[in-house]
Amino acid sequence: MPSSQVTISNDTDLLIIGSGAAGLTLALRSADFARVTVLSKGSLREGATFYAQGGIAAVLDDADSIESHVEDTLVAGVGLCHREIVEHIVSHSAAAVTWLVEQGVPFTTTAESSAKRNVGEAVADELSSLHLTQEGGHSHRRIIHATDATGKAVFEALQRRAEAHPNVTLLEGCTAVDLVTQTPENGSERVCVGVYVLNQASNCVEAIKARFVALATGGASKAYLYTTNPDGASGDGIAMAWRAGCRVANMEFNQFHPTCLYHPHAKSFLITEALRGEGAQLELPDGTRFMAAFDSREELAPRDIVARAIDFEMKRLGCDCVYLNITHKPADFVREHFPTIYSRCLEFGIDITSDRIPVVPAAHYTCGGVVINENGETDIRNLYAIGETGFSGLHGANRMASNSLLECFVVAFGAAASIVQKLATTEFALSINPWDESRVSDSDDEVLVSHNWDEIRRFMWDFVGIVRNNKRLNRAERRIKLLREEVRDYYIKHKVTNDNLELRNLALVADLMIRCALSRKESRGLHFTLDYQHTDAVGHDTILVPDH
Ligand code: FAD
Ligand code: SIN
Repeated sequence: MPSSQVTISNDTDLLIIGSGAAGLTLALRSADFARVTVLSKGSLREGATFYAQGGIAAVLDDADSIESHVEDTLVAGVGLCHREIVEHIVSHSAAAVTWLVEQGVPFTTTAESSAKRNVGEAVADELSSLHLTQEGGHSHRRIIHATDATGKAVFEALQRRAEAHPNVTLLEGCTAVDLVTQTPENGSERVCVGVYVLNQASNCVEAIKARFVALATGGASKAYLYTTNPDGASGDGIAMAWRAGCRVANMEFNQFHPTCLYHPHAKSFLITEALRGEGAQLELPDGTRFMAAFDSREELAPRDIVARAIDFEMKRLGCDCVYLNITHKPADFVREHFPTIYSRCLEFGIDITSDRIPVVPAAHYTCGGVVINENGETDIRNLYAIGETGFSGLHGANRMASNSLLECFVVAFGAAASIVQKLATTEFALSINPWDESRVSDSDDEVLVSHNWDEIRRFMWDFVGIVRNNKRLNRAERRIKLLREEVRDYYIKHKVTNDNLELRNLALVADLMIRCALSRKESRGLHFTLDYQHTDAVGHDTILVPDH
């Protein structure tokens, strides 16, 4: 909650909700043509982007090819990726990286190229000398990175650029509550004309008019008790789009990252897959390696397979965690490539150059989301969804490592082009209704909010987790129905706060996840159910259509 006053202009050409990789990219790509406002409900950096470790998948090496990256993505996605979207996004990967280098992102280069950079070599030289690492599912080294803190390097470079741009306003402590839509009198398609925003500093909800609105609010992994995600990942954009009338798809595919640090005081700390890319091995408590029994790609199998294998072994042995071991690599190599993980683990008394790292799977990424096309356009005119909020069809039933940031950039590029093209012919709405809180009182029983929040996250973890079955999903369905009624009742009687807004959204997206999971009568990728263990010959997306 910010302490200083935040002034929100009551109109802007483009209102972007979210200041992660997707939101900032869209802002920078549109700002030469439009007045852009970017909102973040917390501090600007508090999205998943800032915490991204491994890197960005891109075809930059002569020995690699677009076809190979496409093929790997399709295999990891287990028959559900939309090939044309995969081809579109992968074929723009080099352009995305070029743009990021131009924005000043300090990617790790080979030793030779660092010398070149010091004598002022051009961007092209830098691109050819980026260090490429490896992650699960990729058949080539194709992950560019900034040591093991890629997201921080990307975020800081884009934030600097956005702050310096005269047409961009960045606002912290502003929570989008709901979209404002109107249906023109001629009855044609519904249009998004603005957003209701809770200004946390003044505690008032303000109505902001915008010619275009983009949802860049990240994912919904906070629906689970254990997650690698920051606290704000409550699926707000997906929930707002659904309430406004957009279709939502494939919400059953919640990706669990195999290796989150297991330590009572280490909240949500990821141990990057790049560690396995550089040779780290998974071991049981007694030191036995186990991945070969599950997949010939062993530690570098796609994430759904590795997470399920760990879950299986933990349940079989009744152990609290498994271990990741990179102690066989030279200590200098480990410290140089993984400085963030090295120092964070050391804070907990784990020296990763000599000790094994205790790890467990945790909810990491929302593969489903608001149905969009390659330019982030949704079912509602002038409303866009980009980044983890959108469902473009890239990830299918399981996202391949480091394809997410790539999608953030490429879809934001398309959204910017689409918005710039429509600017001249898109007017502001004549008026929008002010927020009405004449019938609500101050929030007076916050324990109801915190209790329901905990309850959802716990039953989602237990009943809609890595391994599912009908009995557990049916229990989850009964509970979410009851909880949503309670949440709705509290919401309509009380003034909004950040917490009750997040709870309202979290309850809705949990419901969408359960509905999608119940409707899939097979196991595929991230959705594994003991009641239907086969995979259908032909895959289909789960598309939910709002009936309101
Ligand atoms: P985010 O970066 O999550 O940003 C969301 C923004 O929306 C925030 O500014 C938030 O404050 C704002 N927001 C949310 N709701 C509201 C609201 N109601 N009102 C106002 N603002 C709101 N992917 C890769 O490709 N490579 C990696 O190496 C990688 N590593 C990862 C490591 C970790 C620990 C995590 C958690 C994820 C990682 N991912 C990685 C996934 C990737 O980081 C995310 O998918 C991506 O950063 C999402 O970016 P985004 O812009 O869509 O959203
Ligand atoms: C990681 O670094 O392991 C995360 C990469 C990703 O989520 O794509």
